[in-house]
Amino acid sequence: FSSHPPEKERTLIVVKPDGVQRRLVGRIVQRFEQRGFKLVGLKLLQVSEDLLAQHYQQLRSKPFYPDLVQYMTSGPVVVMAWEGHQVIQSSRKMVGHTNPAEAQAGTVRGDFSLHVSRNVVHASDSPEGALRELQLWFQGQELLNWDCVDQFITC
Ligand code: TYD
Repeated sequence: FSSHPPEKERTLIVVKPDGVQRRLVGRIVQRFEQRGFKLVGLKLLQVSEDLLAQHYQQLRSKPFYPDLVQYMTSGPVVVMAWEGHQVIQSSRKMVGHTNPAEAQAGTVRGDFSLHVSRNVVHASDSPEGALRELQLWFQGQELLNWDCVDQFITC
């Protein structure tokens, strides 16, 4: 075994309105569970324009920003916090390229979407981004620390 202990990172994953409307939530959650990550936060909500403006603060001057706001507020989203070794980097790979046309098969975007403006899912892109986004989308007490403690189940 490597002497390096696993890093207990956390990241924000959002199933966007198209993912919820297309009933893709379960399959997306399944991929993160299957990989071995731990679910530490989960909720369904309608995003406000204010929260989006903070979330996408670096994109506010882009020509696609008004359409992005309209899309992201077009229905509820599922917001998740996942924990595990290098979860930020790994989940970006699992989500795939921003533009689904360039996303590899086997990634969420590569398997479930066609167009950059409807790319199903968001994943934080750096440790700084993950921390900022988790604080923006979750109250502190909504993120739980838990472990497998039941002797009657295997986990
Ligand atoms: P970005 O942060 O560049 O990508 P990612 O989501 O992979 O981190 O862009 C944020 C979102 O903005 C992206 O998921 C979809 C939307 N978007 C467009 O609608 N058109 C575009 O040309 C780009 C670059 C992004």
